[in-house]
Amino acid sequence: MSQRPIIALDFPSKIEVETFLDKFPKEESLFVKVGMELFYQEGPEIVRWLKALGHSVFLDLKLHDIPNTVEKSMVGLAKLGVDITNVHAAGGIKMMKAAMAGLKKGTRNGAKIPILIAVTQLTSTSEQEMQHDQLIEVPLKDSVIHYAKCTETAGLDGVVCSALEAQDIHQATSESFVCLTPGIRPSGSEVGDQQRVVTPTDARKIGSTYIVVGRPITQAKKPYEAYLSIKNEWNGENK
Ligand code: C5P
Repeated sequence: MSQRPIIALDFPSKIEVETFLDKFPKEESLFVKVGMELFYQEGPEIVRWLKALGHSVFLDLKLHDIPNTVEKSMVGLAKLGVDITNVHAAGGIKMMKAAMAGLKKGTRNGAKIPILIAVTQLTSTSEQEMQHDQLIEVPLKDSVIHYAKCTETAGLDGVVCSALEAQDIHQATSESFVCLTPGIRPSGSEVGDQQRVVTPTDARKIGSTYIVVGRPITQAKKPYEAYLSIKNEWNGENK
């Protein structure tokens, strides 16, 4: 079965999401990402609504709190029926285990447990900032790999990372460890504020498990066509 790129619904409210989704055929089941911007405005109802429309949802809230709080929050997120969600690996192995336990508790009998991934170092963090602000005295890459290993130890499914890190992360963990990668641009498109971008074809070759694409689809003149073209490229179906 062909894989769907995850569309980042970076919109301020539901009205803009509705306008955007109207440009897709009703029967097309999409995989969408809901982040903090939309979730804090619309609340859990936005997830229920998207799921009722038949879409898969990656809820990108990057939880980071004490294990007990994260566990209880994850019970609620699992009840919403999210397909993928995430935490910060910096919260620690105990917190990540608690997150997984919460997801398991909140998933209805027989339903699939949501995929749980961790953010390692935010891609907006430079090596210099990491060393200064977090007092981590190793190269940034070592910290990313370390967090990926902790994520695996905690029993999570994978990490959010740059496609450029996917190979090293797979080597340090396992081939089946999920690498979900944003910063994707089809060749010839606007790069925007992303620094190190990768095409869907290269992401596939390097080892991304899922790709997240925002503006190349949301800001396209013809979003559905842009989506199909990226989806084809991601599935290696380009002519
Ligand atoms: O519009 P664009 O394709 O750059 O959107 C990428 C999406 O992935 C945005 O929602 C952005 O916040 C998110 N993201 C990212 N880099 C990360 C983590 C998340 O671009 N390291």
